[in-house]
Amino acid sequence: MTTKPEIRPDQERLVSHTAYDDFQAREGIPIITGFAVADLRTVEVKPWARLECLGTYINLDGTGGTNDAYVAEIEPGKKMAPERHLFEKNIYVLDGRGATLVGEDPNSRTSFEWKRGSVFSVPINTWHQHVNGSGTEPARFVAVTTAPLVMNYFHNDDFIFNNPFVFEDRVGTARGFQGEGKLYTGGSGRTYVWETNFIPDIETFTTFTWKERGAGGASVFFELADNTQAAHVSQFPVGTYKKAHRHGPGAHVIIISGVGYSLLWPMDGSPTDRMERVDWKVGSMVVPPTNWFHQHFNGGTEPARYLALRWGSQKHSFPMGSAQEGGYDVSVKDGGAQIEYEDEDTAVHDMFEETLKRVGGESNMAEFIPRLRK
Ligand SMILES: [Fe+2]
Repeated sequence: MTTKPEIRPDQERLVSHTAYDDFQAREGIPIITGFAVADLRTVEVKPWARLECLGTYINLDGTGGTNDAYVAEIEPGKKMAPERHLFEKNIYVLDGRGATLVGEDPNSRTSFEWKRGSVFSVPINTWHQHVNGSGTEPARFVAVTTAPLVMNYFHNDDFIFNNPFVFEDRVGTARGFQGEGKLYTGGSGRTYVWETNFIPDIETFTTFTWKERGAGGASVFFELADNTQAAHVSQFPVGTYKKAHRHGPGAHVIIISGVGYSLLWPMDGSPTDRMERVDWKVGSMVVPPTNWFHQHFNGGTEPARYLALRWGSQKHSFPMGSAQEGGYDVSVKDGGAQIEYEDEDTAVHDMFEETLKRVGGESNMAEFIPRLRK
């Protein structure tokens, strides 16, 4: 130990690393990176010793390293290892059926049942164990977690995975796991928010018209298990697309019905300048990068619906998920983060018409875009 720093020829060099990267390296399962995932239902999963299942991590560019996702598959008749942790985890069931045991100790027997289309969150640091309910079919889910943020901040596995603290304020009620909840009007007064721990079937959950986001679309927002992470569902009719907007990182958009595509471009550019197009179908996932404009298009002949697992609880506001200056659904001309139809590049609609032509569909956008009316 020295009290006075002096340069020595043999001194150690600091190696920069993140606790999350180190943790992932120890996990020994694949890591998917990039802009989007074509189909979560078929991505390759490998044996995951810690959780006693099969899995893969998914670290998409648009998370900005703030949150992550993984796919876990439970083999027929098997159960995962019980665990608890100090990061939040929102789960969407992709395939199969099963149950989750949950409680304040690892042998807890309070349980709830889920199936394809269920969405749920176990309260932070509560023991939980997922069980496949079928002896013949695998069960597969995708989880979006706040592990990167929590691990990089505390960088101590024992503190994160073996911490006896009970968050009494976040446990909620047992009925929350039976699908009961409470409906609120969102902070803007233009949306609706359902607070619960468990949504039995997100594919058919009621949505409410949100005309500010455009073209007959309807949404519903979710507050799950008192998390800072949140979720929403958006549905848009045949022959329509939503308005472009932008916001912070980590919104994992998962397609749950329909086919179509998303356009994404940096906020300083335009769609004809640099643009990414992600074609999607049921099971696809895309995460728009921080503050990139993005716009979702129903490119098929059936209503399209997606689930976003993301930052941005309205109850527990957090800088990363907060509404951009003036709001997600307010025109950039009025200080918001949305491009109104009349202000969008005409190439956007031209591409939409082209796409629909290929599937024998028809645009219904004339109702919403004056220049398209003959
Ligand atoms: Fe968005």
